[in-house]
Amino acid sequence: MTGGTGFLGAFLLKELLEQTEADIYCLVRAADAELGRRKIQNNLESYELWNSKYVSRIIPVIGDLSQPRLRLSAEQFEKLARQIDVIYHNGAVLNFVYPYSALKSANVLGTQELLRLACQFKVKPLHYVSTDAVFDSSAYYGKEVTESEPILHTDGIDLGYTQTKWVAEKLVTIARERGLPVSIYRPPLIAGDSRTGIWNTDDFTCRFLKGCIQMGSIPNMNCGITLVPVDYVSRAIVYLSKQKESQGLAFHLNNPNYSSWNEVAHWIDELGFLVRQISYEEWEAELIKTTGSQDNALSGLLPFFLRRWSEEQLTFAGLGQRRVKLNCQNTVARLTGSSIVCPRVDFKLLNTYFSYFVRSDFLNAPKVRA
Ligand SMILES: NC(=O)c1ccc[n+]([C@@H]2O[C@H](COP(=O)([O-])OP(=O)(O)OC[C@H]3O[C@@H](n4cnc5c(N)ncnc54)[C@H](OP(=O)(O)O)[C@@H]3O)[C@@H](O)[C@H]2O)c1
Repeated sequence: MTGGTGFLGAFLLKELLEQTEADIYCLVRAADAELGRRKIQNNLESYELWNSKYVSRIIPVIGDLSQPRLRLSAEQFEKLARQIDVIYHNGAVLNFVYPYSALKSANVLGTQELLRLACQFKVKPLHYVSTDAVFDSSAYYGKEVTESEPILHTDGIDLGYTQTKWVAEKLVTIARERGLPVSIYRPPLIAGDSRTGIWNTDDFTCRFLKGCIQMGSIPNMNCGITLVPVDYVSRAIVYLSKQKESQGLAFHLNNPNYSSWNEVAHWIDELGFLVRQISYEEWEAELIKTTGSQDNALSGLLPFFLRRWSEEQLTFAGLGQRRVKLNCQNTVARLTGSSIVCPRVDFKLLNTYFSYFVRSDFLNAPKVRA
């Protein structure tokens, strides 16, 4: 698997170790195998997922997605291609500010190398972690898309990151048409563990929430919230990937239970974090003022929030309104009877997440508790 030192990767690795008896070869960026092993273990520990019984089944493969042959020697690449039976390609650089050119080598060319690995010596099924954002193009504005819908074109996809994910998904789709057993998983924004609340607090959503709490205001946005807990995503991917009938299919891992953004903003306030809901334009003006004068979690993301998108010059809030509605009927049907169910983002789940934010010192405890 790739990306085992990341957020989703930690949960995916844990599920693979628990739901299978396989040894897991993990591509990892490190100076040597021992440091690679430690990096994977540290990551699992940081999400409270580590168990010492895993040691012998995690095999670090020192390499790099952005380099030809994953930076392995020809012999190492060949040996790996003979040894492994299945590939989970989850690694990528997630960045909402960098252009396509800065992300292409890891996200696109890395996927091409994984396809080579899947085809060499013996055919190995490839499970590719994509994103729901591949449907951000103008072909789908405001439409409902099923899991068999092709990803048509990139017109209207403005983020370099999303463009790389679109091209990478297209590559694996072409490989599937040529006979490689490929399954595609499309999560939306991934939230923390629904049981412990643990979340990658360095990600976009956490920074956004923290930045708003620091400012004391949150934008009013007339759209749904597209969050899914990481334990749902990882359990669903591993469960589905083990079904032979999943080969050749795409799965939408969005939350089938709707919650609106404004509802969530209201609950955050009820939890005691005291955020006023104001119009997006007012919030943007406050953001510029705040980031100019004090530390704010959104400072590095200012270009993202100030950007105007596509010909219509939409704000970030405007983007939410034209997003596709993902139909996840096939995924939900295949998970029926498995005990893997996606929880709604409600007050109780938010309380679990915010309790973790406080427990981990990501946020100060609120002065008033609802
Ligand atoms: N998080 C979300 O909300 C979300 C939503 C939809 C889809 N996804 C997809 O889910 C997957 C995992 O996302 P995540 O949130 O877990 O991301 P993450 O926490 O940033 O982890 C990314 C992983 O990819 C690895 N990676 C990046 N560049 C690499 C390179 N050049 N060579 C080797 N490994 C490299 C990282 O390794 P290092 O530790 O060495 O950096 C890390 O293990 C990605 O494919 C992403 O596109 C995520």
